[in-house]
Amino acid sequence: MTLNTMTVGDAFKQDMRVQWDAAAAGWDRHGSEIRDWLRMPTDAMLEMAGIREGQTVLDVAAGAGDQTLDLAARVGVQGAVVATDISAGILAYALGNAIRAGHHNVRIHEADAEDLNLGDAMFDAAVCRLGLMFLPDPLTGISQVYRVLKPGARFCSIVFAGPDMNPCLRILMSTALRHAGLPPRDPFQPGGLVSLGKPGLMDDLFQRAGFRAVATTRMEAPFRMPTTEHYLAFIRESAGPILQILAPLDDAARTAAWADIAAQLDVYQTDTGWIGPNALLLTTGQR
Ligand SMILES: C[S@@+](CC[C@H](N)C(=O)[O-])C[C@H]1O[C@@H](n2cnc3c(N)ncnc32)[C@H](O)[C@@H]1O
Repeated sequence: MTLNTMTVGDAFKQDMRVQWDAAAAGWDRHGSEIRDWLRMPTDAMLEMAGIREGQTVLDVAAGAGDQTLDLAARVGVQGAVVATDISAGILAYALGNAIRAGHHNVRIHEADAEDLNLGDAMFDAAVCRLGLMFLPDPLTGISQVYRVLKPGARFCSIVFAGPDMNPCLRILMSTALRHAGLPPRDPFQPGGLVSLGKPGLMDDLFQRAGFRAVATTRMEAPFRMPTTEHYLAFIRESAGPILQILAPLDDAARTAAWADIAAQLDVYQTDTGWIGPNALLLTTGQR
């Protein structure tokens, strides 16, 4: 593809791929913290998607594969998991983690969620944990999942709820933009961290993609760390979108931005550790 035929959507995704290739090692290194943070919603997602032994399951935007391991354990040796992601770099971690955990039923497939490049009606179930909000056109992505599911199969996705329920994400994004000299962004702008958090939007997208029996459940998933610094260490190594905004700054300006972010996040320090409010939306539907 030459530059002059590249659409805005293509450029956005190329950026996304580069961003997550760069953040892959950090996302993987902080895997056990992510696992603790998302334990309950992940278990709920697997239940809502109806994951059972022997199934062939699709994992969209699988990242370093934390939820892939849970899927692999549930479907067992008679089943299979196809872990897809736009970033080949992060998918390599997913495969390595699956092999290390003894799951030989995981296959990786590099693909944009808006163009899965997989056959129709192949899967018994599908999940997507914290991926759909990064799509410039989430309806196309959800329609792709619908297409590759067998009739009757279920899909469950997790996205961040709106900005009011995710103050840490709001602080990170608005402070990074301000220090980078960029204008504030509409939080619901497609592709943004909380872009799918508008009440009713996920249900509407699932229904428009063709899913029936659609329902969304909000779940609190506070991030618990010993201190603000521990949370920031996670963000500084793994939060692709924030790192990308701060990347053009020189060292001094970047240090000032992180100090400003830390000062604001300190309000969530308690006697029993740092507890960052965080809310997620779990949406399920049946083909
Ligand atoms: C926040 S991480 C979540 C990873 C994993 N699902 C988890 O919960 O640990 C978001 C993932 O979405 C992927 N992603 C972003 N845009 C994508 C797209 N258009 N198609 C497929 N994956 C995409 C990124 O590469 C990244 O691995």
